[in-house]
Amino acid sequence: MPPWDRLAVIMGTLALAYSAFSAIAVLADPFDACELPGWPDPSTIASLPRSGAAERCFCAYAQLGSMRMRDFSKQCPLWPHFVSTDGAHPNRVSHHRSVAVLGKVEGNASAGRYGYVGDWATDIGSGFGAECNTTLSPECSPIGAHVLAIPRRRYLRDCCHDEHHSLAAMLRAAEVTELCSLLAEMLEASLAKVAQLEQYRSCSEQDEDPTEQTKCLAQCFHIVPDVYYAHLHTTAGVLRIRDGPLNAGLGPNYNASDANNPSNAFGRYNLCACEPTSWAIEAPGRGSCPRVTPSDAAYVRQAAIALCRNLAGIAGVPPARCAQCEMAIPNRVNHDVS
Ligand SMILES: *[C@@H]1O[C@H](CO)[C@@H](O)[C@H](O)[C@H]1NC(C)=O
Ligand SMILES: *[C@@H]1O[C@H](CO)[C@@H](O)[C@H](O)[C@H]1NC(C)=O
Ligand SMILES: *[C@@H]1O[C@H](CO)[C@@H](O)[C@H](O)[C@H]1NC(C)=O
Repeated sequence: MPPWDRLAVIMGTLALAYSAFSAIAVLADPFDACELPGWPDPSTIASLPRSGAAERCFCAYAQLGSMRMRDFSKQCPLWPHFVSTDGAHPNRVSHHRSVAVLGKVEGNASAGRYGYVGDWATDIGSGFGAECNTTLSPECSPIGAHVLAIPRRRYLRDCCHDEHHSLAAMLRAAEVTELCSLLAEMLEASLAKVAQLEQYRSCSEQDEDPTEQTKCLAQCFHIVPDVYYAHLHTTAGVLRIRDGPLNAGLGPNYNASDANNPSNAFGRYNLCACEPTSWAIEAPGRGSCPRVTPSDAAYVRQAAIALCRNLAGIAGVPPARCAQCEMAIPNRVNHDVS
């Protein structure tokens, strides 16, 4: 089961709403007011898990503000559970230039919701994927952070596989300037939502998890997607993280069972801003990592270049192409985020 499905199963209270929703979804064409360039045709959406329910939600988050609220709710009927801390406002979504960010620093104790987005793989203090339990966390202040960043001006299916709608396709098409500014905005806008950023360094060792114990931060894409809408995970300081079953880890993890599987990057199944140097042996370009820590003003630029090089390693493109990133990214200070 992909993590999105498992998340639904774990959220027991949502299970009924979900099954009713998917029963409706198979009877009628799913409502779809997504207007992003590159958005798939209705038959492709219908062929995705749950008729593309997760992908249609991600598009709704991207178009929040330009989509009528009524359409927003039809496009993503379960938004109050995923992107709201009070059940009334989609206040976990914010926009920054060409990126939408899911997650906020402050939770809501009276509603029992963390500010961060739940994930099957991360425990931010109340169990894996669970919302805030005020017995464990009276103020709903999470242990660590988990933020997602998605493109909001065009649709990209994934980081590394799709022939036309992926970060890898942008690199192959020599759209390096656009790619690097998108990467920089994703990295930067996500970091702006991480509480106490200065306590973290980048996770840089193989299998080093972004937990409270390691005090490291990871910014990674799954190479084989769970949701078919490209999303960068930023994870740091969490209580616990799941590294299996399936390739669930959110840092620079290695799964030896995939060692001979090129479609899963030979077991290095996440594309990260900071990768272990040893990974360069497998694919030239991979194994790049910013020199400074995430709270440093120079981090975003270095991390975008490293991410581009690591992507080049997966895509089989010469990493030298990422030199153009230097020009694409203004040398601005972190937290220059609206
Ligand atoms: C927290 O959620 C409750 C509803 O559950 C709402 O009435 C309240 O305004 C919210 N507080 C904040 C600060 O968002
Ligand atoms: C909250 O946590 C407490 C202590 O671990 C536990 O007993 C309780 O069942 C939890 N509540 C919910 C709703 O999960
Ligand atoms: C490793 O990858 C295999 C094949 O993709 C998968 O079945 C298995 O669950 C993974 N193991 C872990 C611990 O994630």
